[in-house]
Amino acid sequence: MIIVIDGPAGSGKSSTARAVADKLDIEYLDSGALYRTATLLYLEADRNEELFFKLLQDKTITFHYSNGCFHVAIEGESVTSRIRTIEVAEYVSEVAARPHVRQFVNDLMRDVVDRGTYIAEGRDLGTAVFPDADLKFYMSADIEERARRRYEERKTDNPELTLEQVKQNIEERDHKDSNRETDPLKKAVDAIEVDTTNLSFEQQVDKICLEIRERL
Ligand code: C5P
Repeated sequence: MIIVIDGPAGSGKSSTARAVADKLDIEYLDSGALYRTATLLYLEADRNEELFFKLLQDKTITFHYSNGCFHVAIEGESVTSRIRTIEVAEYVSEVAARPHVRQFVNDLMRDVVDRGTYIAEGRDLGTAVFPDADLKFYMSADIEERARRRYEERKTDNPELTLEQVKQNIEERDHKDSNRETDPLKKAVDAIEVDTTNLSFEQQVDKICLEIRERL
């Protein structure tokens, strides 16, 4: 079984999906983390397309969810913290626009969901990756609120970061993610829309859990 949550950056998808996974005792899949991992390889390749392509083919990427955290490793070495830097955030939408990168990430995800019950979150899961998902949500919130949440989440690990930088990065990513040719950010026609601007975290989690219990 697969439940998907799509939506723009900072709309509350990740924290909500993790809490729902814990409550319902199911697996959690963070597709953005996989695009960020591909972006690390792109930066490691010094943005050389050929080398990047080779690294994507050659390196083994593994991931799992435990203790409230989605862990990712390249060749067994954890990159869980490194994928959250502002440098990765600056390049990720550009890297994620490449069809071969999308294919690579989609294959990684489709491979694992065959083996369990998952709640997965991203941008195109309900429209492109899992169009037959058992239940689809689309989370949104206004930009000021999304920037504030992302800033609060990141500032301890990135003391140099400013709220304005976060807001600008989110706006740029939203624009690129919504306008790319391959599988842009879009609400699936059969997704349940959840606007989280005025919802507390607990309310978001309860709303999603209620819908899941009612419909499945
Ligand atoms: O969810 P997160 O903000 O970590 O995602 C990072 C980036 O990965 C997004 O801005 C987007 O460019 C890309 N992404 C995507 N498709 C997904 C998930 C993330 O293109 N399904």
